[in-house]
Amino acid sequence: MPSLTSFMQLAALVAVAVAAPGNMTASTTETAKRATCTVNSVSSASSLSGCTAVVITAFTVPSGQTVTIAAASGATITMQGDITFAKTTAAGPLLTLNTPNVVFNGGNHKINGNGALYWDGKGSNGGVTKPHPFIKFKGSGTFEAVTVLNSPAQAISVGTTGKTLIQSVTVDNSAGDAGALGHNTDGFDISASSVTLSNVVVKNQDDCMAINSGSTIVVEDSTCSGGHGISIGSIATGKTVSGVTIARNTITNGLYGLRIKVDANATGASVSNVKYEANTISGITVYGVLITQSYPDNDGKPGTGAPISGVSFTGGTTNVAVGSSAHRLVVDCGACSGTWDFSGLHATGGVGSIVAANKATISGGTY
Ligand SMILES: *[C@@H]1O[C@H](CO)[C@@H](O)[C@H](O)[C@H]1NC(C)=O
Ligand SMILES: *[C@@H]1O[C@H](CO)[C@@H](O)[C@H](O)[C@H]1NC(C)=O
Repeated sequence: MPSLTSFMQLAALVAVAVAAPGNMTASTTETAKRATCTVNSVSSASSLSGCTAVVITAFTVPSGQTVTIAAASGATITMQGDITFAKTTAAGPLLTLNTPNVVFNGGNHKINGNGALYWDGKGSNGGVTKPHPFIKFKGSGTFEAVTVLNSPAQAISVGTTGKTLIQSVTVDNSAGDAGALGHNTDGFDISASSVTLSNVVVKNQDDCMAINSGSTIVVEDSTCSGGHGISIGSIATGKTVSGVTIARNTITNGLYGLRIKVDANATGASVSNVKYEANTISGITVYGVLITQSYPDNDGKPGTGAPISGVSFTGGTTNVAVGSSAHRLVVDCGACSGTWDFSGLHATGGVGSIVAANKATISGGTY
């Protein structure tokens, strides 16, 4: 039988829960460590470290401000409205999501960067100052069901530090096609390990995904249109990419389909173990598949300081259909090695292929 004292303690705890302010409700009898917190302004996002559940309602971020959402490890973060950014000269990222083991669900709401207020055709190379990246994913966990609309330049930088799944996330910069004003609008720039992108949609004017460093990275069942396809690189000095699977993606209407691009001047860097499986690529105007160590040139004088090994097209046919003046496959190696099984590559159209594979032996495939 409960003592009078414990009954009174319980009554006191209930009273605390009832009296809690509307935007921070004690969800249990303990402490703020288990609270639901509401973010409805920049200031309300400032101290969420005790929140295991965060609800984001619609709000606008004023010029000059940025937002970081950093909740307790394992927190659930749910959007119930759009986040809209006023035009700003603040440096990117304008929004940082940084929670370990997060379950972030955007509820199919939008994070709107108002890119059209900045776009001038020059991207991050000049003209109007554009905050970039627009959004940074840090921490780890699952990021899903959100649309990133109209980023000023590069959209999402992935710098997570634990196992991460990014699924059903859309980057829609298609409005930047008008007048060729959207530029350097990369969908995802990835420098992270143990990351899977699944069912992602990107409509833009630059790389759909660019994997700059990391290992154990999967891009699957995703759609890219209007941009520069799925890239590994560009690989700079000291950067390593290993263990990448690019599977069952659809890439349409852009300059490139699939690329591995290594800076010609890179040293102490490498790319290894890249598998392409059952992708569908069409409407490519310059290069269907380009593997080069001459970057920023497409096909030039390759460097030798960042070797590429272990590239394959297997596990289902990757169909590549290129436009009349495009190349199907170009390999431009200064330091490549291994036996590369290209039996799953079926490339058609265009002006042909140029393969200079250095010490790599390419077997199979139609190109
Ligand atoms: C709760 O609301 C108050 C006043 O509106 C605000 O100052 C505070 O930052 C909010 N806290 C959270 C966690 O949302
Ligand atoms: C190496 O090449 C990259 C890509 O063109 C360039 O950004 C970088 O500045 C170059 N680095 C050096 C040391 O020349």
